[in-house]
Amino acid sequence: MSAPIGIFDSGYGGLTILSQIRSLMPQYDYIYLGDNARTPYGTRSFEVVYEFTRQAVEKLFDMGCRLVILACNTASAKALRSVQQNDLARLGSDRRVLGIIRPTVESIGGITRSRHIGVLATEGTILSASYPIEINKLFPDIQVSGQACPLWVPLVENGEAHSPGADYFVRKYITQLLEQDPLIDTVILGCTHYPLLIEKIRRFTPAGINIVCQGDYVAASLQDYLQRHPEMENNCSKNGSCQFFTTESEEKFTSSANLFLRYPVEVHRVTLG
Ligand code: DGL
Repeated sequence: MSAPIGIFDSGYGGLTILSQIRSLMPQYDYIYLGDNARTPYGTRSFEVVYEFTRQAVEKLFDMGCRLVILACNTASAKALRSVQQNDLARLGSDRRVLGIIRPTVESIGGITRSRHIGVLATEGTILSASYPIEINKLFPDIQVSGQACPLWVPLVENGEAHSPGADYFVRKYITQLLEQDPLIDTVILGCTHYPLLIEKIRRFTPAGINIVCQGDYVAASLQDYLQRHPEMENNCSKNGSCQFFTTESEEKFTSSANLFLRYPVEVHRVTLG
């Protein structure tokens, strides 16, 4: 049986990851699922993010996926391990769920010179401490500071990413991060929504600081995973298609998805749980 690759996010943010994955590996079939009705996840508890993520993974498995990417840092931080440990055996031993924090973290050792890194992410991702934990496993010499940016996802989800009103909040969180550690020379955008704010993030980040967007690293890491796991790769269907599903209204998704993908998509509504 051949299967599409599932890409899940709490909303539209994962579309930034999907774009990079598809441009590197256009041959595969993909299913994108956004839990737009229940976004944002960033301020929710571990239990709730785990429950919602498990429901989404089950839905994507039911749709025929064998491999699901949690294209959401919050879900990767708060739910990935629980889904892998508690649910995968029951859902099918040949299925896999991968997150996006590890591939991002692997990339930064070669980028920072000062060995001082900043992470901008949702409150949930920052409170989970997943980035400092994962970074220090690989690079114990790197000092990590984190700044939660609770208003960035709502700005993006509400189509305000380019509005003048967004300037205040973009500048505010960057300033707060750099105040924590002035030696930071590399900033990870640890939320898949944030590349949509990249123009403003660049404008308010001092020159010389590297800004790391995750998409390229996640796509390269997935390619590497598929090369190392032919049993999974052989099962991936290869017609170059992508289907979109949302838990919110189809109209709303279609118009907002345009901001991320810049091509029209046909989307279907699903319920989770
Ligand atoms: N885009 C998601 C992330 O990468 C989360 C946004 C949210 O639902 O708060 O963390």
